[in-house]
Amino acid sequence: MAGDGGCVMDARRARKHDHSGHEVGTSSPQQAEELGSAGHFRALTLFAEAPDTVRAARDTVRAWLETWGLVDLCDDVRLVVSELVSNVVQHAVPDSCLTLPGASRRVEVTVTTWPGLLCIGVGDEDSTPPDLPVGECVSPALAGDLPEALLPDQGRGLLITQRLADSVWWSPKEPGGKTVWARFDIDNTT
Ligand SMILES: Nc1ncnc2c1ncn2[C@@H]1O[C@H](COP(=O)(O)OP(=O)(O)OP(=O)(O)O)[C@@H](O)[C@H]1O
Ligand SMILES: [Mg+2]
Repeated sequence: MAGDGGCVMDARRARKHDHSGHEVGTSSPQQAEELGSAGHFRALTLFAEAPDTVRAARDTVRAWLETWGLVDLCDDVRLVVSELVSNVVQHAVPDSCLTLPGASRRVEVTVTTWPGLLCIGVGDEDSTPPDLPVGECVSPALAGDLPEALLPDQGRGLLITQRLADSVWWSPKEPGGKTVWARFDIDNTT
């Protein structure tokens, strides 16, 4: 919700997966990592102006998930990473306090896991909140056999993200910018 410091949208889905163990992997030059006591953390800094930023983000995150044995989550997480990073590329305008002449716009991608959940964060330098959809855009009763015909041509990315993730929200960063978050619950009880 704009201006209130964040918005949480609960979505759906629990997933089955073993989610234990520690990881210390290799890293590319712009890739940082830490060892958690019961999960994983990886961070990647990209630049919005690079031609392969979106692909690099989703492929890197997929490699992390594969390393951790979270292959069941790969497809959904890759799509969410693609949408969130695409949004930074397309929409983020750095705050004036962060703007340097000629500088590229930074995209900070993080993946954190704890037992039972995985959290994607995509940070940028724009304090403008994302326009998170509220409620259903399309009535299933109206959609009939052609639901896509009633969907808008734009504004689908966060809708898709909300459908795939269990929760989507954003938080402000200091001294400026924000992070958009997507949480995936992992059901490892069965
Ligand atoms: N990182 C961001 N920074 C600033 N504004 C954003 C950001 N992400 C989303 N928004 C705003 O939220 C709106 C909705 O985003 P969403 O991804 O759903 O749709 P879209 O990017 O406009 O279109 P599509 O994803 O279908 O190509 C955007 O149009 C933009 O105004
Ligand atoms: Mg989008």
